[in-house]
Amino acid sequence: MIVLGIESSCDETAAALVENGNIILSSVIASQADIHNKYGGVVPEIASRMHIEAIIPVIEEALFKAKLSIDQIDGVAVTRGPGLIGALLIGFSFAKAFAYARNLKLVGVNHLEGHIYSSFLSENIPAFPFISLVASGGHTNIYYVDSYDNFELMGQTRDDAVGEAFDKVSKMMGLGYPGGVVIEKMAKKGDPKRIQFPRTYLEKESFDFSFSGIKSAVLRFITEHQDNLDILKYDIAAGFQAAVLDVLKTKLINACQQRKCSSIAITGGVAANQTFYKQLLKDASKMEVKVFVPKKELCGDNAAMIAARGYRQHMNKDYSEFEHDVFSRNKINSTGMK
Ligand code: KG4
Ligand code: ZN
Repeated sequence: MIVLGIESSCDETAAALVENGNIILSSVIASQADIHNKYGGVVPEIASRMHIEAIIPVIEEALFKAKLSIDQIDGVAVTRGPGLIGALLIGFSFAKAFAYARNLKLVGVNHLEGHIYSSFLSENIPAFPFISLVASGGHTNIYYVDSYDNFELMGQTRDDAVGEAFDKVSKMMGLGYPGGVVIEKMAKKGDPKRIQFPRTYLEKESFDFSFSGIKSAVLRFITEHQDNLDILKYDIAAGFQAAVLDVLKTKLINACQQRKCSSIAITGGVAANQTFYKQLLKDASKMEVKVFVPKKELCGDNAAMIAARGYRQHMNKDYSEFEHDVFSRNKINSTGMK
């Protein structure tokens, strides 16, 4: 079965063709990051307008790269939420019209479940049960995953998402949006121990996160050291990154031990951080826990993960009706944000 996946929840317009849920025939991502960069963050109205321009060319390119014709598509999967309402609406409305016109079944996919499924798109996949982290610009969620359809939310951020913290620190330092890649690069030149930023672990048993404190601490430090920023910027980046990675690693290892799992899968844009992966691998291997990370292009938003989750929903006959609508974050379900 060939599923067309469509993703438009934030600032990437993406389409993918995936066979039987795990063979990627093509995956095309049109990023708007360069446009939003000059505003220091995603501007929802601009994002929606750009999705309108990109959606058809991106799908055409996905078909071209997969060497498929439109009538070889067997089902449609599209991100239904959470995300920016206007942005979601472009992909979801397109998918509805496409499915209706081609007489295909449509499934609406939870974006976070899509991220979890990016772990199933490699040759090496985690065995159930495993701990999954979705760490992106909008979410920092830890799940206990014990089947293809069961994702138990163990903890989530109470304020900023970890990717958002990277983006805000980058903005404070005048390094633009998105901030993850640039902060990681600068951190490589800095000393992670020179500036100690706070690590917020919250209650002992909690798997929740809070990143607003470290963000304020970095802002305070920057304000107090305006004259020396050129010298200190690498150490600030390294100190900030070390603090947030310490918290992520500790919570993941604790979750793994508490739920007796032998695998941790990290996903979302922040999972592309090589320092994170290497440090987690080191800590996890001491407890004989395996670490899984998707290929870089599958860490951030993409449509292959949506098609992968969508394939499973097709198998489960978990279809969307044409009168269904998108959701931003109105209902809480097992994935935390439905
Ligand atoms: O998953 P994603 O593409 O989109 C959302 O669903 O939000 O994640 C984007 C986020 C941004 O906040 C970006 O700064 C962060 O992922 N990110 C990184 C890295 N690459 C992207 N954060 C830390 N290190 C990176 N290398
Ligand atoms: Zn995402």
